[in-house]
Amino acid sequence: MNLFDVYPLFPFELVKAEGSYVWDENGNKYLDLYGGHAVISIGHTHPHYVKLINEQLNKIGFYSNSVQIPIQKELAKKLGELTGGYEDYSLFLCNSGAEANENALKLASFHTGRKKIVAFSKSFHGRTSAVVAATDDKSIIAPINETSNIIFVPFNDEAALEAVMNNEIAGVIIEGLQGVGGVQVPTDSFLQKVRSLCDKFGALMIMDEIQSGYGRSGKFFAHQHSNVKADIISMAKGMGNGFPIGGIIIAPHIEAKHGMLGTTFGGNHLACAAAIAVCDIIKQEKLMQNAAEVGSYLMAELKKFEGIKDVRGYGLMIGVELDNYAEVRKKLMNDFKILTGVSGKQNTIRLLPPLNITKAEAEKFLQAFEQVLNSVAVAK
Ligand SMILES: Cc1ncc(COP(=O)(O)O)c(C=O)c1O
Repeated sequence: MNLFDVYPLFPFELVKAEGSYVWDENGNKYLDLYGGHAVISIGHTHPHYVKLINEQLNKIGFYSNSVQIPIQKELAKKLGELTGGYEDYSLFLCNSGAEANENALKLASFHTGRKKIVAFSKSFHGRTSAVVAATDDKSIIAPINETSNIIFVPFNDEAALEAVMNNEIAGVIIEGLQGVGGVQVPTDSFLQKVRSLCDKFGALMIMDEIQSGYGRSGKFFAHQHSNVKADIISMAKGMGNGFPIGGIIIAPHIEAKHGMLGTTFGGNHLACAAAIAVCDIIKQEKLMQNAAEVGSYLMAELKKFEGIKDVRGYGLMIGVELDNYAEVRKKLMNDFKILTGVSGKQNTIRLLPPLNITKAEAEKFLQAFEQVLNSVAVAK
């Protein structure tokens, strides 16, 4: 049997990983500024993470949500403490980012009894049912996903948002920092406008923090830079440091009913052990502070390079826009063994390293980046 060929692949296999580094089958060591697509939060194979998953596996790996699973409550408590302001919210656990957003939209619809969702240009919310319809990329919306229930509005356009809001809107979904869209930053004023219009029309504000959350921005959630609170927040990627887990946190005014949401695998023992290890390390190693410090340093230094069109982001979610992004990225990988992410449609390299990357590792990247930019400029 062959694999269904949907992924363009790097030309190597990874066989080992530790901290901010990965090794391929030929022994090449790469500095990982891609983090397996913003997933690696506490660093690869962190000893505490490996230990908690192993210990849990030796006790019980899985049982369905038909029994008490106290480790879920332990996760909710630790997560609540880390969020700085969302301790009174409730947690619903699932398995991926798309599933988290599906549950967020479904809950907004159940809660309000309405069908319409507002989403934004350059958005990405996942590849399934309602969330792919709320994703601004027609090429991944199959005919079965097409719906008139999603209303798209230009990102950061307050007047356009105001014009579409009314009593039919169940929720507004917006990324804390747009990821696939090229690390676009919502302005404080725009997020505050989303909040006030949701309040005015009885709609729910849904923050998609799947990529920008879990400390990556230097705060637990990126929208916390803008001094707003959402009704539902979706999380995944960094939550399990690679172990599949997602979830939504839900404001106290939204009532739960038995059977309203559900999943077989969501919140299983092993996934919770992984997510607890992540919470422990974010707290113990002060990773939000590290993300803020190393991220600010990287952004300030990147802004000094000539030929770069824009540097955007918060903390360790950084977009570097430049014309020859593809060539630069390739040279970083081949000549300097540094992996980066990309938003091809926005000519943007995305830096999404583990949150415990050191300043010395950031410096190593900056030196390589300078040499690559010079060599690309000379080649022209
Ligand atoms: C902002 C955002 N939302 C949702 C998703 C979908 O997550 P998953 O691939 O886990 O379904 C992604 C994945 O890249 C994302 O970046």
